[in-house]
Amino acid sequence: MALCVFPPSKHCTNHHCYRLPVTQQIRRKSSVTVRMTASSGVSYEEGELDRPNWTGQTPLSRLVASLIAFKPLYSLLKLGARQVFISTAEKMNVPWREMTKEILESEVYKEMEGIENKSIVYPDYYLSPFHAYDEGNLSWLAAAEAEAATMSMVKRAIPDASSLEEAIDIVRGNWLNAIEQHHQQYSRNLKIRDILDIGCSVGVSTRFLADKFPSAKLTGLDLSPYFLAVAKYKEKTSPQRSNTFQWMHANGECTGLESQSFDIVSICYVLHECPARATINLAKESFRLLRPGGTLVITDNSPKSKKLQQLSPVLFTLMKSTEPFLDEYYLLDLEQTVKDAGFVNVQTILTDPRHRTLTATVPY
Ligand SMILES: C[S@@+](CC[C@H](N)C(=O)[O-])C[C@H]1O[C@@H](n2cnc3c(N)ncnc32)[C@H](O)[C@@H]1O
Repeated sequence: MALCVFPPSKHCTNHHCYRLPVTQQIRRKSSVTVRMTASSGVSYEEGELDRPNWTGQTPLSRLVASLIAFKPLYSLLKLGARQVFISTAEKMNVPWREMTKEILESEVYKEMEGIENKSIVYPDYYLSPFHAYDEGNLSWLAAAEAEAATMSMVKRAIPDASSLEEAIDIVRGNWLNAIEQHHQQYSRNLKIRDILDIGCSVGVSTRFLADKFPSAKLTGLDLSPYFLAVAKYKEKTSPQRSNTFQWMHANGECTGLESQSFDIVSICYVLHECPARATINLAKESFRLLRPGGTLVITDNSPKSKKLQQLSPVLFTLMKSTEPFLDEYYLLDLEQTVKDAGFVNVQTILTDPRHRTLTATVPY
């Protein structure tokens, strides 16, 4: 028997529901806490469950889903979520409104012409309202706010950090170190020449990858031409780097790029925004694009994170109201998905209190 992850709602008409056997319902882990050690040597604590009880098939998760499916309440939640995003960010010294204004009043619009692939066919899931924006990621406002939203997400992961910069150093630094260590260990000295950043958004992760691997050529790929226009504009207006950058408007599930043309494929904070079928396709496409010995790195929310398992009901309800695919994300066995795509040496660590980093290799 299989159950639909969502209650009958607009979700079911927008996409093919991903079905999971009931045996994959949540269970309490036998050990109470496990510590996972990030490459920095700092360890982060796992919670008691396989995944938060506000995800998947649990009564709590179903209750939240049915609240969100009630349209008038959904509209209120969406508004509330937006206010919470902005005020929480500004309390953490992320100058949200200032950063947004700077982009919206810049010459970023000129970049669209050279970036947009007018013949692209967007997958249906991408056209859902998202992050409290009715047009999802397909708007200038979403693009202008994306970097501030990323900073805010990073600071929330390390609330005790003495500054935003320290939080960024920990979250992005542990992720980059995990890539480097995995590649050194398993890739038989395969030089890092070409890096693909799938779901690069406005280029923040792409720039971090560039700084870590200064001799690599970077390709940032995204489905939003608005985000890519900001990425290109930022590249032009930031201090020059030694790397070369290419920005590509395409679907990461079927990029059209040449097989075996990358040494690293990164998918950073993308999968919690995707239905399971897209994640499966992204893993297969990454496998095709990597050279033998190449490294896949995926970083995103960890189902095992103690912090996420203990999130307050207000916060997880607001979050679920703006992230339509969270349940599918938490239910999917990511390690198995990556192994099924052909990868070996599949490893996952908590690289900060909220996020896991999975690394894997294409066999020789
Ligand atoms: C949260 S953002 C990623 C942030 C960025 N990687 C970072 O670390 O700062 C998620 C991005 O994934 C993109 N995305 C979602 N599905 C995609 C797909 N199938 N192909 C390419 N990009 C996709 C979205 O447009 C969005 O820009």
